[in-house]
Amino acid sequence: MSSKGQAVTIPLCVPWMTGTEGPYLAECVDTNWVSSAGPFVTRFETMMADYVGTTHAVATVNGTAALHLALLAAGVRPGDAVVTSTVTFVATANAIRHAGAWPVFIDVDPATWQIDPSLLAGFLRRDCAVVDGRLCDGQTGRRIGALLPVHILGHPADMDPVLDLAREFALPVVEDATESLGATYKGRRVGALGDIAALSFNGNKLITCGGGGMVVTSSAEWAERVRHLTTQAHCHPVESLHDEVAFNYRLTNVQAAIGCAQMEAIEARLAAKRRIADFYRTLCAEVPGLTFMPQANWAGAVFWLSTVLVDPKAFGRDCRQLLAFLAERGIGTRPLWQPMHLSPAHRGARAVGGGVAEDLYARGLSLPSSCGLTEEEKIAVRSAIVAASARSAA
Ligand SMILES: Cc1ncc(COP(=O)(O)O)c(C=O)c1O
Repeated sequence: MSSKGQAVTIPLCVPWMTGTEGPYLAECVDTNWVSSAGPFVTRFETMMADYVGTTHAVATVNGTAALHLALLAAGVRPGDAVVTSTVTFVATANAIRHAGAWPVFIDVDPATWQIDPSLLAGFLRRDCAVVDGRLCDGQTGRRIGALLPVHILGHPADMDPVLDLAREFALPVVEDATESLGATYKGRRVGALGDIAALSFNGNKLITCGGGGMVVTSSAEWAERVRHLTTQAHCHPVESLHDEVAFNYRLTNVQAAIGCAQMEAIEARLAAKRRIADFYRTLCAEVPGLTFMPQANWAGAVFWLSTVLVDPKAFGRDCRQLLAFLAERGIGTRPLWQPMHLSPAHRGARAVGGGVAEDLYARGLSLPSSCGLTEEEKIAVRSAIVAASARSAA
């Protein structure tokens, strides 16, 4: 239901089942492998590492857990600062806090909506200093534990400058690739660009397990550490012995079975997302006041959620009014996230810039983007948006 109680008939983004999910689930039940070990878990991990281009993958209960463990494996310690984008879902910042660290929120580049590399460089070079051999935030004194670029909405962050800065200051790079499985940066898949990355398979992601996540890395040592931490740091084949405080963050075989089935159709999913993006791009060219999300020339974006900017003057309604208009017609949309530097949940965290993020928050709206979006549904969304626009009022 929408906020006004109207039934949502065209949701923002829902799972897309393509055929083998049922038989694979039946196999779990028939073989009794339903819990946190089993052949689908291993198969899913192998499929994902092969696809992303890393040598290791460790399945987790969700993407937030994957990010949390990726940060711990990267050596982030309580009291550290982790430098990330202010335009992201709150889980990115929460994972940093779960690791006992504090985020530093960097504004985004209006040309990509991803972390602004020049602001990042300015922060590291001008606002930080080396103290006892460690790069520290000059204002808070916190050690910089990692850089955490987020590839939002299916578009990669501009990674070369991020990786150059990481090398310059000897910092690990943890990618939040949860929204951008399949996206490429200069021809290489996200998730294999930094030192370690997190993926998410929740219900609205490109592929879903119902809920789930994965850490991908080409470090055998870090992968081993992540696996150890997912399983309560169990350190003996027979005895219940545990060598540190850890977590139960494993994915079940049932969830992995769905994930394997979903991965088999990943190319069809990506093609569907690109078709949906083409549809909205054309619509934006027709309707004054709507601008389609950018795509940099070095980016192979996958358009996980097709998102537009609404110019209230030219369109005739602002972003929230358009949301309400569409909701009354059963069409689900969502504004972009409140920038993290404004979130009460992360009050006290340092921010660098923020004006671009605030503008995106005021004007950005994600439109129905399910892989299974039908032609009839596209026509209905198009008619409703045209009806909402100034053009129809004129
Ligand atoms: C940018 C970002 N980071 C992290 C997450 C966390 O993933 P999950 O919901 O699987 O915990 C999500 C998705 O929900 C996300 O969009």
